[in-house]
Amino acid sequence: MKVLVVGSGGREHAICWKISQSDKVDKIYCAPGNAGISQVAECVDIKAMEFDKLVQFAKDNAIDLTVVGMDDPLVGGIVDVFEKEGLRVFGPRKNAAILEGSKAFSKDLMKKYNIPTAAYETFTSAEDAKEYLKTAEFPIVLKADGLALGKGVLICGTLEEALAGVDELMLDKKFGTAGDTIVIEEFMTGREVSVLSFVDGNTIKIMSSAQDHKRALDGDQGLNTGGMGNFSPSPFYTEEVDDFCKKYIYQATVDAMKAEGRPFKGVIFFGLMLTPKGPRVLEYNARFGDPEAQVVLPRMKNDIIDVFEACIDGTLDKVDLQFEDNACVCVVLASDGYPLEYKKGYEIFGQERFNDKDGYYLFHAGTKFNEEGKVVTNGGRVLGVTALGKDLVEARANAYKATEWVTFANKYMRHDIGRSIDEALK
Ligand code: AMP
Ligand code: GLY
Repeated sequence: MKVLVVGSGGREHAICWKISQSDKVDKIYCAPGNAGISQVAECVDIKAMEFDKLVQFAKDNAIDLTVVGMDDPLVGGIVDVFEKEGLRVFGPRKNAAILEGSKAFSKDLMKKYNIPTAAYETFTSAEDAKEYLKTAEFPIVLKADGLALGKGVLICGTLEEALAGVDELMLDKKFGTAGDTIVIEEFMTGREVSVLSFVDGNTIKIMSSAQDHKRALDGDQGLNTGGMGNFSPSPFYTEEVDDFCKKYIYQATVDAMKAEGRPFKGVIFFGLMLTPKGPRVLEYNARFGDPEAQVVLPRMKNDIIDVFEACIDGTLDKVDLQFEDNACVCVVLASDGYPLEYKKGYEIFGQERFNDKDGYYLFHAGTKFNEEGKVVTNGGRVLGVTALGKDLVEARANAYKATEWVTFANKYMRHDIGRSIDEALK
C-alpha cells in the first residue's frame, strides 16, 4: 500500500520510520517532510495546511492511507476534508480535535465528566479576568485558549505578573485570536508524564509512558520549548498511577467525547501531572507528542499500519498493543538561541554513524537540503538523537554518546535529559 504522512518534524520522521518497518507498505510520501525524512519517504512540496493540494495529491497517487502528525491541520479539519473525498485518513475530525484546539473546551469537558484536573475559570473579557485575579492565590496559571505552539501558558508568581499576563494574551494578542479566551487555573506541583494512546471512538489502548523536558536550559531552567529531549518509559508512571488513570481518566475521556457527539479517532496525548493528591490532566493533545513519538515508537512491537487501520475501522479492541521491555532516550540537538532567535543554514556532519539496526536513530526535525544538496540546519529543534538500551541508564548513556557523532555550527543541547532517572533509582 501507499501511505502519505503530513508534517515535517522529528515526530513525523519517527512516524515515517515506523511505517517503513511494515511489510504492508510499498511507498511512503511525506508532505512537506525534511532532509532526514527523505531517507525513508519521498518528500512532497505541499504544506500541511494546503488541504486541497494534499487531497489532489492523494487522489493522483492512489494513496491508501493518510496519517496526519501535526496539530494545526487536525484542528483545522483536514480529516473531514479527506473523508468527504472518500479518502482513508488517520486522525480526529475537527469536532474531536477541539480537545487540543480549545483549552476552554477541554477544561469544561473534564469538569462535566469529573475527570481530575486543576480547578479553573474561563474568561472572554480582560477586565473580568483581572477582577478575578485580585482575590486569587498565587502562583497561578494563565492559558491561551487556542493553539500557541506550546507557548501560550504563563505561570505567574504574583498578581502583577498575572495582570501583565492578561494584557499579553488578551490585549496585546501575543498569540493572536488564541488569546481571545483564556483559562486561569490552579497551580499544581508534581512530576509530569506524557501518555500517548490510540483511540477508535470507543476503545482506548495506552502506549508506554514518556517524560518530556520542556525547558530550554539544564536544571529545568529557562523558557518553555517544544521539548528538549525525553525518555520512555517513565519510572514514575507506576502501576498505581496506571490504575488510577485507567479508572478515572483514559476511558472517561473517550466516553465523554462520544457522549458529546464528538467521537475521537486517532491519538490522544494525555499530559499528566502526578500531584500529591494523585494524577491530574494538565492538557490533552490530539496527536503524537514531539519528541514523545521518537522514544515511544522505536519500542512499539506492533505493525503501526494495523493499529492505524483498527482505529479507523473501530476494531482497536482486537489489537494487542505491545512494547519492548527496554528503554529509549532522545536528546534534542537545537540551534543555539532556540526558542528565541537563532541562525540556520549550517551543514550537518556525522549522520552516517547512525544505524537503526543497532538501536541508534537520528530523527530530523529542522533540516533541509541546501542548493548544493548538503543537509543543513533549518529550525530551532534540528535533530533528535535517539538510542535504545536495556534500561534507562544504558539508553541515556547510548544517546549521549551518539550526540557526539553529530556536529554542526551553533549546536546546543541539554546535558541533563533523564536526570530524574537517577532519582527514581535511589
Ligand atoms: P500545557 O500546554 O497546558 O501542557 O502547559 C505547558 C506546561 O505548563 C506544562 O507542561 C506544565 O509544565 C505547565 N503547566 C500547565 N498547567 C499547569 C498547572 N495547572 N500547574 C502547574 N504547571 C502547569
Ligand atoms: N512534547 C510535547 C508536545 O508534543 O506537545
